[in-house]
Amino acid sequence: MPRPQLAEFMRRMEPNSVAILPGAREATRSNDTEYRYRQDSDFYYLTGFNEPESIAVIAPAREEGRYTLFVRPRDPEKETWTGRRSGVEGAKEKYGADEAFAVEEFPAKLLDLMGNARNLYYRIGGGNPDLDDTIVRQIARMRMMIRRGITAPQAIIDPGAILHEMRLFKTEDEIALMQRAADIASEAHAEAMKFARPGMKEYEVEALIEYLFRKNGAAGPAYSSIVGGGVNATILHYINNDATLRDGELLLIDAGAEYETYASDITRTFPVGGRFTAPQREIYELVLDAQEQCTEMVKPGVTLEAMHLRSVEILTEGMVRLGLLEGDPAKLIEEEKYKKFYMHRLGHYLGMDVHDVGGYHKDGQPRAVEAGMVMTVEPGLYISEDAEDIPDKYRGIGVRIEDDVLVTPDGYRVLTSKAPKQIEEIEALTAR
Ligand code: GLY
Ligand code: MN
Ligand code: MN
Repeated sequence: MPRPQLAEFMRRMEPNSVAILPGAREATRSNDTEYRYRQDSDFYYLTGFNEPESIAVIAPAREEGRYTLFVRPRDPEKETWTGRRSGVEGAKEKYGADEAFAVEEFPAKLLDLMGNARNLYYRIGGGNPDLDDTIVRQIARMRMMIRRGITAPQAIIDPGAILHEMRLFKTEDEIALMQRAADIASEAHAEAMKFARPGMKEYEVEALIEYLFRKNGAAGPAYSSIVGGGVNATILHYINNDATLRDGELLLIDAGAEYETYASDITRTFPVGGRFTAPQREIYELVLDAQEQCTEMVKPGVTLEAMHLRSVEILTEGMVRLGLLEGDPAKLIEEEKYKKFYMHRLGHYLGMDVHDVGGYHKDGQPRAVEAGMVMTVEPGLYISEDAEDIPDKYRGIGVRIEDDVLVTPDGYRVLTSKAPKQIEEIEALTAR
């Protein structure tokens, strides 16, 4: 059966329009080996079809078929190498397409499918230049056919305008999948706290986490896991994960699972096989305070911008208190001095993509959140080893705390609450 999302997408399309959405292609890793396949999020959201090289054509007014899938056809020899295909028949029977064809036939069918549609929904520059080319050439040819009664589309519209707005609001089914992705990753973070100890390599902890992701049915990490001990915690996109963990250092882990194409995104920071030192605790408590206060702001009507500004205030005031910054907090904020230690935003939307789609502004203004949206709340402080004019005791400390938060009609629900973040809870797991 076609997914309900497809019917809703059709309902939101302009009249007299056709949409073309490609699936993801396979990606080469090196020479003739490929990455494990991951379907394009928009395509999967609409079709539920997980095979490479596919194309969906959605034409609500087309009598011969409103929903056409182009797929890789059955091929016993190729299937021996790369796995079973649904084929043209499966696309109709299992996925509810009205019509299905081998993907090679797409260029030849394009004229017929576009009909005389006034608008074409297609994401030009969406990462498939071959398909861009096929479509642009077809439109150019159609312009030459005007005397035969054929008209080319007058507008090319990014389907993201509809789809990304739909994806921003999660249904109950999607929330259940996101909760599962969050639970799997939360459990893995708790296990990492019990497991990590001085002398281990960061990648040993990474391996435990990703083992638990797979063991519990996730496709794997939703993004490259960050496992940074000591000063590596101050490098925002540290993914080498190959240093040795040392006694007395903190370990920052930013790792989330992808479950049924939905992501979780969690960061926890904890002492390696021991207890927080006093300076580590001071930084940690400040970040935790910002994280909790900002989370409590979440309810319909608040903007991510307002939450971010609040995090800047709390962290800046705290940094003045600790002697990391000097001066009037309001002035330090105006001059963006806090960015030396807090250089990213408080959070982002979360869904099928870890940095999920959906507009952050409406009519040029920061947009209010609404029930059904999911976002991260992830303040952090990153104190470089060679920062000038700071107390030595804070050098090389990096802390981020990141939860995934669902907006509910009257507030919020933290999806990642099973990942410990209170100091006492953490030390109960890390103390040896
Ligand atoms: N792990 C990516 C992020 O936190 O945004
Ligand atoms: Mn993260
Ligand atoms: Mn994040």
